[in-house]
Amino acid sequence: MAPSYKIACIGAGYVGGPTMSMIALNCPDIEVVVLDINEERIKAWNSEQLPIYEPGLEEVVRQCRGRNLFFSSDTTKHLAEADMIFVSVNTPTKTSGIGAGKAADLTYWEGAARMIAAVATTPKIVVEKSTVPVKTAEAISKVLKRNCTDPSVTFEILSNPEFLAEGTAIEDLRMPDRVLIGGGDSEAGQAAIKQLAWVYAHWIPQERILTTNLWSAELAKLTANAMLAQRISSINSISALCEATGADVQQVARAIGMDSRIGSKFMNTSVGFGGSCFQKDILNLCYVCEGVGLKEVADYWMKVVTMNDYQKQRFVERVISAMFNTVARKRLAIFGFAFKKDTGDTRETPAIDVCRGLLADGAKCVVYDPKVTPVQVFRDLSAPKFEWDRPHGWGKSERHITENVQVVADPYACAEGAHAICVLTEWDEFKSYDYQRLYDSMVKPAFIFDGRNVLDHEALRSIGFIVYALGKPLDPFLQKSY
Ligand code: NAD
Ligand code: UDX
Repeated sequence: MAPSYKIACIGAGYVGGPTMSMIALNCPDIEVVVLDINEERIKAWNSEQLPIYEPGLEEVVRQCRGRNLFFSSDTTKHLAEADMIFVSVNTPTKTSGIGAGKAADLTYWEGAARMIAAVATTPKIVVEKSTVPVKTAEAISKVLKRNCTDPSVTFEILSNPEFLAEGTAIEDLRMPDRVLIGGGDSEAGQAAIKQLAWVYAHWIPQERILTTNLWSAELAKLTANAMLAQRISSINSISALCEATGADVQQVARAIGMDSRIGSKFMNTSVGFGGSCFQKDILNLCYVCEGVGLKEVADYWMKVVTMNDYQKQRFVERVISAMFNTVARKRLAIFGFAFKKDTGDTRETPAIDVCRGLLADGAKCVVYDPKVTPVQVFRDLSAPKFEWDRPHGWGKSERHITENVQVVADPYACAEGAHAICVLTEWDEFKSYDYQRLYDSMVKPAFIFDGRNVLDHEALRSIGFIVYALGKPLDPFLQKSY
């Protein structure tokens, strides 16, 4: 018998796809349909080559696709039939108009709400899965109510932000630290919360299902990302101080992380945080603060982004100054372009700013990443800031990028004839390469700039490499030259 409870999800992206797959896997009594206006994406979800790479995702999709999990672009039919509708569309940073460069662009969200209103003839629970500014539920409620042709249809809005991280999405969804559900105080609001809690209770222990009011849930998501990003900017700021003083950032992180009040997680210094969420959500948090007159609060959080930009710039300057103050016409092997390991996602990856900085000094960048396609690298290096989410907003690669960037499928080919290797993503495979072979094929002196501190620096030095590691005592060869 076909399941009688129906869930639809608008947005078949990095969140909608895996989240709905996990619900379908654990709730055979629920039919789940994931919808998208991007037909190519839907086609890919229905194929053997899923549109996103996420460890463990293929197995989950294979188990339930066609059983109680479906991917479709027929939004009218499935939204009309659904009891509960998740909205998991993109909420990028606005690029023009009021709030450009900070505020969340809710165009896609509003579009989704209008789609629901246009076809709803039965009561709907609408679940905010996207990360949105606090109070979005209020705005969305107005759009839904004012656009629905049947005035008897009721909408209950819930906030159910997603905390998964890419690369570990399936594990995060299988056993999240918590599931957060925010809803209204009314009887109907509380009933809606119970219904969503019932869905998650299929596999998540009751004590991990946390319920709050709507605004707390919306704000908790922005705050969680801001605090996580702040930790990275904090340790990155200390990495600069370590280099100036001879301290070792990993030793410092270990020493402070053993304090249980601080904790040891999320304290890896890096060339900068990337990903589609951290920067966007902090900018949005700042915008919300400014909107309610809290300038000092906005300024405080903005520094997290400033520090992140500084870290990327600092890395570029280290590379250039170490290589005798110029990288003009030098071949630089870029190891890793994704914003973190185990994903092919490049949104806001620090590699973009680092490569741009090196290209601006005249470098020839040769990129190797196990999961990122050449097309994606060229697109990213050509797209204006914040425009990555609008595929029609930018087109051909600029000439200086096509002429000075190359993307190769093999790390050894990448490093051959290079003056330096820059490690920009912490892919595990980078640790197991034959560095003697890489060294032998490179121009001397051969440099390695480890922007993730994942390599064995002493072993590299004994081969002959000049090594720069973030937040570590500086190799005398790397002292600034003028
Ligand atoms: P994404 O860009 O991968 O996916 C969004 C999808 O929504 C796209 O495929 C787009 O075509 C589709 N879409 C937009 N408008 C639509 C409409 N009206 N009808 C149907 N489809 C529509 O984005 P994502 O990474 O999945 O992020 C979605 C939301 O989740 C964002 O708000 C993000 O901040 C939040 N989030 C993301 C992550 C993450 O790790 N990526 C984690 C937690 C929360
Ligand atoms: C993040 C949040 O972790 C997740 O809860 C939220 O739902 C979405 O945003 P994500 O961006 O997918 O997830 O990955 P995350 O593991 O948080 O890494 C973000 C960036 O920070 C990456 O570039 C990563 O390399 C960097 N990072 C992370 C560090 O530089 N150091 C660390 O210690 C941890």
